[in-house]
Amino acid sequence: MSFNFDNLPNRRSTNSYKWDIREDEIPMWVADMDFDTAPVIRESLRERLLQGAYGYNSVPDSFAESIIQWWSRRHHFQIESDWILFCTGVVPAISSIVRKMTRENDNVVVLSPVYNIFYNSISNNNRKVLASELLYEDSEYQIDFDDLEEKLADCRTSLFIFCNPHNPIGKVWSRDILEKLGELCIKHDVLILSDEIHCDLTHVGYQYTPFASISEKIAMQSITCIAPTKTFNLAGLQTSAIVIPNPEIRQLVNRGINTDEVAEPNTFAIQAAEAAFNEGEEWLNELIIYLDKNRNILKSRLELEAPEVTLLHSEATYLAWLDCSRITDNTTMLCEYLRNTTGLYLSAGDIFGGNGQYFIRWNYATSSALLNEGIDRFVKGIKAYQEEN
Ligand SMILES: Cc1ncc(COP(=O)(O)O)c(C=O)c1O
Repeated sequence: MSFNFDNLPNRRSTNSYKWDIREDEIPMWVADMDFDTAPVIRESLRERLLQGAYGYNSVPDSFAESIIQWWSRRHHFQIESDWILFCTGVVPAISSIVRKMTRENDNVVVLSPVYNIFYNSISNNNRKVLASELLYEDSEYQIDFDDLEEKLADCRTSLFIFCNPHNPIGKVWSRDILEKLGELCIKHDVLILSDEIHCDLTHVGYQYTPFASISEKIAMQSITCIAPTKTFNLAGLQTSAIVIPNPEIRQLVNRGINTDEVAEPNTFAIQAAEAAFNEGEEWLNELIIYLDKNRNILKSRLELEAPEVTLLHSEATYLAWLDCSRITDNTTMLCEYLRNTTGLYLSAGDIFGGNGQYFIRWNYATSSALLNEGIDRFVKGIKAYQEEN
């Protein structure tokens, strides 16, 4: 390996949302990796830093070009430069799209459990969340297409917010499923918003399919949000792109993000994104192997030391989704207990909706040593919890 993922930067007392916690706690919750980003990105940021003046910034053509090349190379999808808009983040994009492309009191459909902030983007803008709960059987999730179609067919439904790969369950949606979903949205005239922020974090042997690549018709009814921020640990730099093949939809969304003032980059946003997409591949390939090793550690140790918890099979993301239904139907209480008694800070699943109350989400994008420390604490905590309850 050319990159060392065992050495973590010390992020305590750095205003890190993840790490500014008690000294004895270890955070494995929010989707923020513990690793330094790729050296090529740091070098590129250093060059920008050395320029000294940090005035307003524009979005150069090279930003779109870096995305076009990356998607063509890694995902075999040809994006056109006109389709790409810069935005200061995926969540700002989603909220703005909800405001611009739907009306107050409209329904917005999601598949639950799903990334919790989708719910906020919908309800904070006085739209109604219509969650189609994923069916859960034998430790696997499936879409309930009858239920979903009923929700998409509702005349007040105008938008479907979709997550591919899906946080928190780690699923990479197949071409067939995407086709079926796209056709339902077309049939019921529902706009597709596909959040593909986790698409570069597919596990070894898995490949994601961009929703918009399925067909021309689906592309013309879809908006895709992408970013280098999860993949390269750059979330604090607030950089993302919205890809919209349909010129009419694009014009509206462009107006929306400009009205909402989320269309202009900070001084480092373009620099970081371009360095990631143009030069970050080698680092990412090694990161994926390291994450695979970590997931295997987590899986094999839990199977052996905490067999009452099931780590679900996943195909993407560095977030493990643990079925704790044999222990509790309230993982919020369990997570609080683990944090208070062992210092291990994990995400309780209820915020993601659906059957999340039985699950814990575990961010294992850390050093293997720290992960092992987390597992030690988890195993101890789970045993104690079961004895006490
Ligand atoms: C599915 C999904 N979308 C969006 C985000 C956040 O995106 P941003 O930081 O660009 O707003 C996250 C972060 O965890 C996520 O998991």
